[in-house]
Amino acid sequence: MSPLTEDDGAQVARPSESRRDPSWLRERLDTWLKSHEGPGAQVTAVDIPSANGMSSETLLVSARVDGADHDLVARVAPMPDSDPVFGSYDLDGQYRLIRHVAEHTDVPVPRLWWSEPDPAPLGAPFFVMSRVDGDVPPDVMPYTFGSWVSEGTPEQQRRLMTESVGVLAKIHAAPLPSVGVPVVEPGEDPLRSHVRRLREFYRWASEGRAGAPLIERGFAWVDEHMPEPSEPVLCWGDARIGNIMYRDFTPVAVLDWEMATLGPRELDVAWMIFIHRFFQDITELAGMAGLPDFLTRDDVAAEYKRQTGHPPADLDFYTLYAALIHAVVMYRIQCRAIHFGQADEPADPDDMIMHRASVEAMMAGTYWSSVAERGES
Ligand SMILES: Nc1ncnc2c1ncn2[C@@H]1O[C@H](COP(=O)(O)OP(=O)(O)O)[C@@H](O)[C@H]1O
Ligand SMILES: [Mg+2]
Repeated sequence: MSPLTEDDGAQVARPSESRRDPSWLRERLDTWLKSHEGPGAQVTAVDIPSANGMSSETLLVSARVDGADHDLVARVAPMPDSDPVFGSYDLDGQYRLIRHVAEHTDVPVPRLWWSEPDPAPLGAPFFVMSRVDGDVPPDVMPYTFGSWVSEGTPEQQRRLMTESVGVLAKIHAAPLPSVGVPVVEPGEDPLRSHVRRLREFYRWASEGRAGAPLIERGFAWVDEHMPEPSEPVLCWGDARIGNIMYRDFTPVAVLDWEMATLGPRELDVAWMIFIHRFFQDITELAGMAGLPDFLTRDDVAAEYKRQTGHPPADLDFYTLYAALIHAVVMYRIQCRAIHFGQADEPADPDDMIMHRASVEAMMAGTYWSSVAERGES
């Protein structure tokens, strides 16, 4: 799920109150677990972490299976009546994709336990994985505002960058999966297919309301500047350091596979670069220095080339496209917040996009030169 969304009232917007009740969840999961693993199995505790994304829910589960205690995490699809951010979820597809990655690469992913596609037991499909011990760069407040990442030494921050780029390199070398990624229409280039799906998502999100002119100009820019098709790879999708757990600045678990797709490798490389810029820009606007030398476009691109032999191409295009994807998701989240009475409708719909100035500067071709002028490229 995208950054800076966790705090804007997701709980209030979730009508399915029983899903917020740990004892209800523990009972339901316990019944479910016994039916799978026999009467000796037991769910001993369920906790709902406070900082949750808005796409799926993450539950901390403790269970006894075959006489051993396990710390687990259940990822549960959103309830349809909660007006989910995305129209459809394929949680079992995510589970199978993670298994594909575990089988074919040495990308660290949590050990998988079960997938339950039937909504009956919990009200929505879910899967269960092992709980990994590690730290995630925080989104709220962003890690650039002050966190274990910003407190690291330059050497540790560099290790985090090279190892995180290494995660992308390994994912991109995986064989193409047949599960957990959207189907590309026969004869359609995967990038064009990705843009088509984003546009469909935007149309769905903006149906019956004022659209955002900036997003529409963004789509037109993307159509005009579309790069030549390239060989598709497995892309992680939400490829940002905020979806990786680290120990000692080294990845120990790669999470959040719901945006996975087949497409050009630059989709992931540019998303990693852009989301850091997004946080860095907010930090500078707040009058702080942030991490201007961390995860820079030049460093990420050079490191990706060093590890894969592929120099990322067309990064002006792909970073703008990343900013557009983020704009569409942010627009959708804001529409949802307005719908639930948690936000006021702005007079200018483009104001729903927190990074509108960056998108405008990218389209004008001035964004990266101004970053360079600040010595941050
Ligand atoms: N297997 C896991 N082990 C430990 N913590 C996890 C695990 N999966 C998720 N988490 C915690 O839940 C948070 C959200 O998980 P994530 O998969 O990124 O979902 P989303 O961002 O869609 O809510 C993570 O940042 C992490 O703190
Ligand atoms: Mg996440």
